[in-house]
Amino acid sequence: MNTKSHLSTANRRDFVKKSTLACAGFTIMPSGSLFSASAASNRLNIALIGAHGRAKAHYATLHSENVVAICDVNKANLAFGTKEFPKAKVYEDWRKCLEHEGLDAVLCCTPDHHHAFIANWALQRDLHVYMEKPLAITVNEARTVRETYLTKKRKLATQVGMQRHANDNFPRLREMIHDGAIGELKDVHVWGNRKIPKPGYLPAKGSPPASLNYDLWLGPAPEHPYNPGYFSGGPGANCLNWNMYWDFGIGQMGDMGSHTMDLVWNVIDAELPESVESTSQEALNPDVTPVELTSVFRFPKNDWRGKLRVTSYQGGAMPKSPFSWIDLNKIGHGALFKGANGYVVADFSKRILIPYGKEANMTYYQPRAEEDLTPPLGHFQKQWIQACKRDRPAETACNFEYSANMIETMCLGLAGFRAGAALEYDSLKGEITNKGSASQFLTKPYRKGWAMNG
Ligand SMILES: NC(=O)c1ccc[n+]([C@@H]2O[C@H](COP(=O)([O-])OP(=O)(O)OC[C@H]3O[C@@H](n4cnc5c(N)ncnc54)[C@H](O)[C@@H]3O)[C@@H](O)[C@H]2O)c1
Repeated sequence: MNTKSHLSTANRRDFVKKSTLACAGFTIMPSGSLFSASAASNRLNIALIGAHGRAKAHYATLHSENVVAICDVNKANLAFGTKEFPKAKVYEDWRKCLEHEGLDAVLCCTPDHHHAFIANWALQRDLHVYMEKPLAITVNEARTVRETYLTKKRKLATQVGMQRHANDNFPRLREMIHDGAIGELKDVHVWGNRKIPKPGYLPAKGSPPASLNYDLWLGPAPEHPYNPGYFSGGPGANCLNWNMYWDFGIGQMGDMGSHTMDLVWNVIDAELPESVESTSQEALNPDVTPVELTSVFRFPKNDWRGKLRVTSYQGGAMPKSPFSWIDLNKIGHGALFKGANGYVVADFSKRILIPYGKEANMTYYQPRAEEDLTPPLGHFQKQWIQACKRDRPAETACNFEYSANMIETMCLGLAGFRAGAALEYDSLKGEITNKGSASQFLTKPYRKGWAMNG
């Protein structure tokens, strides 16, 4: 599959910016976009899949639209959704929910092992999709979703739940580096400190409560016995009970890693890497993703920068601070950009610029004029809602091209860890070119009867 779109990523970003300005007072274009069923009321007909937990963070936005269908495998959680949206028809199986008559869009907050499946099925039914992060949990899942999306991007709006992207710090960081604050970009480090160690899949314990359809909760994942430990977290934090198991998620790479890598991805205009090398102090656990991990990705040059190395660290692995008086460990989730003339250190909401070196006189830094600043993204979920209703749907910040490239890269980091080898990657073909046996880690086993192409 060729992942190159007709616009380079850098050009696409500029195009998005200009178009965003043009659309500041957007108009509804029911003819251009797939927004016909409820155009008269100017409200989308939305299916909410995964009714509680993270879904609570979306209720307020959804109230401006018509939630016509709600799906949850747990009736107790479904009840929270129906209390909020009493007119919606209820479903237990997302495959049936996606057939609901007259749907425009889907907002999905299920566990991660369903994400790429639901995304791909929804796109194939010409539905706009907001998918909670991570978009996918294997390289091949990411590639499949992107491939479908690229055939539909002119008519479907997509967004992955990396809502920190709406912080002003994201465009300001991008502008600083693009306008030359640290000179030529040389090297990037990104890290997160969350640690949730687990020994292995939980043993069989008790039976699922009557409210829970455990078979549908497993969905495409291989069979694992029920254990209440997978379900013991509070709303929006229950993911921390299952997302580290290979069959249900990709641990911190997809969890906080989706947010921290987004901080970097928004700056570097990368598509896909040429190679990855992952190392850990931990031995490979066939059940559980690594807590501590370092992955070094190498990206080809693009139209504004040279070849670039990006190193991601998690679970205690950390880059060395360039200065003893800056303790990077005090930044739980952050990024360090190194340029020819200095450094920028950032977290989700702040950034510091450190000119460094004999040439660091700042004459090379030409900050753009105020009128050329990237306009505020506004409300992250509403950006998607608005995009569903207009005729340039690809303009969302974290659409499925941007997000699939990012998560494919991160999944490749995990494949490298599992393979125990540095991997060379042909990103056009999605193939590892130096170690054939590592290809098995680009995908994972699924249960019979579940297919992404549905
Ligand atoms: N963007 C963020 O900052 C953020 C924050 C928290 C969670 N999340 C993401 O949200 C998702 C859900 O996390 P959570 O902690 O709410 O998880 P959860 O285990 O509480 O599940 C959420 C809901 O989905 C339902 N569900 C489970 N399987 C389903 C299926 N097959 N079909 C329909 N419904 C199903 C559950 O019953 C529950 O109501 C995860 O992907 C997580 O990464 C994102």
